Amino acid sequence: MMNRIFSEITPEIIKYSELCTKNSYIQPELYTKYRVNRGLRDLEGNGVLTGLTDISEIIAYFFDENGKKIGQKGELFYRGINIEELVDGFVKEKRFGFEEVTYLLLFGDLPKKNELQNFSKLLGNYRNLPTNFVRDIIMKAPSQDMMNTLARSVLTLFAYDDNANDVTIPNVLRQCLELIALFPLLAVYGYQTYSHYHDGQSFFIHQPQPELSTAENILYILRPDCKYTELEARILDIALVLHAEHGGGNNSTFTTHVVSSSGTDTYSVIAASLGSLKGPKHGGANIKVVEMFNDMKENIDDWTDENKVRSYLADLLHKKVFDKAGLIYGMGHAIYSVSDPRAAVLRGFVKSLSEEKGMHDEFDLYSLVERLAPEVIRDERKMYKGVSANVDFYSGFVYSMLGLPLELFTPIFAIARISGWSAHRLEELINAGKIIRPAYMNVCDRRDYEPLAERK
Ligand SMILES: CC(C)(COP(=O)(O)OP(=O)(O)OC[C@H]1O[C@@H](n2cnc3c(N)ncnc32)[C@H](O)[C@@H]1OP(=O)(O)O)[C@@H](O)C(=O)NCCC(=O)NCCS
Repeated sequence: MMNRIFSEITPEIIKYSELCTKNSYIQPELYTKYRVNRGLRDLEGNGVLTGLTDISEIIAYFFDENGKKIGQKGELFYRGINIEELVDGFVKEKRFGFEEVTYLLLFGDLPKKNELQNFSKLLGNYRNLPTNFVRDIIMKAPSQDMMNTLARSVLTLFAYDDNANDVTIPNVLRQCLELIALFPLLAVYGYQTYSHYHDGQSFFIHQPQPELSTAENILYILRPDCKYTELEARILDIALVLHAEHGGGNNSTFTTHVVSSSGTDTYSVIAASLGSLKGPKHGGANIKVVEMFNDMKENIDDWTDENKVRSYLADLLHKKVFDKAGLIYGMGHAIYSVSDPRAAVLRGFVKSLSEEKGMHDEFDLYSLVERLAPEVIRDERKMYKGVSANVDFYSGFVYSMLGLPLELFTPIFAIARISGWSAHRLEELINAGKIIRPAYMNVCDRRDYEPLAERK
């Protein structure tokens, strides 16, 4: 058993935390009074414009002739290309898409055949950890959260890079490509270590295969027998493509911009973005979705009974069940309202995978929740816009059907999103913007310093 830091919450800590809460609480009316864009949204809930980007575009609404905002079917474009067309393109040609999409996001154009081959080869060559990195870093002090393990590995890679602090474009691009190639290894090996030390599982490290795609390599190095079906690898590849990028304003990509704008190194930037992505309101939602469904399946005897499912969903919002956070995970999005195009694309493939795995009952339950949850949320919350299933609603289900461990769900999101973060880090540096530095208004009254002996 490892020595732990003190984790006990003592009465003294409770007292301090009450003091801290009392004196840090800000009256909610003040945010309206001073027209604060809380969460960097305006009073109608729209994101505040903080930058320009060439990398991707999200369409979720339009304005009618009276200037009224109307929600519409969500659309997502990578470098101007509709994501549905993109997926359709490589799926029809029976190719893996993640490497092509990474090229597109980084360099702005679709690769020609030989460019794609060379780029995939480059990633394959970079998919090589420094000597003894697994033994010296990953196997030390395994944590139960793979996102923290991943961030630690990224921060430690700084020490292995002879030119770590150089923020010129070729050097940052080289670092980004290495990280894109290494993320599957860092995540999966982190998990193998954890499952060995924590769950007593056999420990094995499979070497990645340079000729395999990112999705195939994940399954290859994760499974004891290195085997996977074509459908499994293709669906994982599609999930990677759909998670690769989502504009400059999502929490982790904005973190990439914020931290890059200070002029710091690539490893520090990506570690910060990982910390953001881990949160349950962001990339951590895919784990929560599966845990929520497990809880639902345990507590509802008939999964086809609409009333029972509806009442469980209402209990979620009333903080009576599951994690008592008041959220229906996998539902809602800061921008999309009517639909999230990524969820729509994934849904089609999920159906065929659930048939291959004999999990139609689960698929039907997911479909029922997808239909009922928006109604339940609308009845209970103040809505600026509609809510619908987001990408994580189905991605968690896909990963569980692929037999991926829960601990790797968010790291898989990170394996995909590192491509988008890299493109945005480069864009921030190429355009040499100002350091990002918004304002906070002070609402604390001034007072005099009291000498220690006079304090009551
Ligand atoms: C993603 C999320 C943080 C966006 O929140 P947002 O930007 O405030 O979204 P909206 O403006 O549409 O929300 C309006 C209201 O509906 C609530 N709401 C939205 N989605 C909800 C959900 N899934 N469950 C419960 N309430 C929800 C919001 O909390 C808000 O209520 P409030 O004003 O009382 O706080 C939110 O939908 C959420 O927490 N979803 C669950 C987690 C998740 O799946 N995240 C993955 C995102 S890809």
